[in-house]
Amino acid sequence: MRNVVETTPRHGGLRGKAMKTFAILLLLAGAAGVAEITLPDETAAYKPTLCQSHQLVLNNCLLCHLAQYAQVQPRSSPRSYWEATVKKMKKPFGAQFADEDIPAMVAYLAKVYGAEKPKP
Ligand code: HEC
Repeated sequence: MRNVVETTPRHGGLRGKAMKTFAILLLLAGAAGVAEITLPDETAAYKPTLCQSHQLVLNNCLLCHLAQYAQVQPRSSPRSYWEATVKKMKKPFGAQFADEDIPAMVAYLAKVYGAEKPKP
């Protein structure tokens, strides 16, 4: 059952004021840098490098799915794994890129997402 007194304007007004004060305190806390927000890493895009192979991957690998599939492959994946994966995208999956693009894309994937990734 709802209490009638609680819905009177005076009571509601008081509660509204308390909420406003609370909101202002929250804003001040934010402005003072108390709340620090760290955004997660970007996951939807392939990581950029300066080389042309990155551009090939952008052109050829985003038509059907985002970069997540590459990102979740084991770091230990060797070049042969990436080659097999890229070839699989063509056949049977039906990707349309040229065969001569394959080696550069495989090198990119092995270096950025696989076993050839430089140790930090
Ligand atoms: C014609 C559409 C298409 C294109 C273009 C495409 N893929 Fe895929 N990819 C798929 C499909 C379909 C799957 C399987 C999805 C599933 O199993 O749910 C997949 C899965 C994957 C996986 C997950 C591992 C696996 O073996 O299933 C990786 C990694 C991957 N793709 C990388 C790439 C890369 C790198 C490129 C560019 C060279 C690419 N894809 C281009 C359709 C495509």
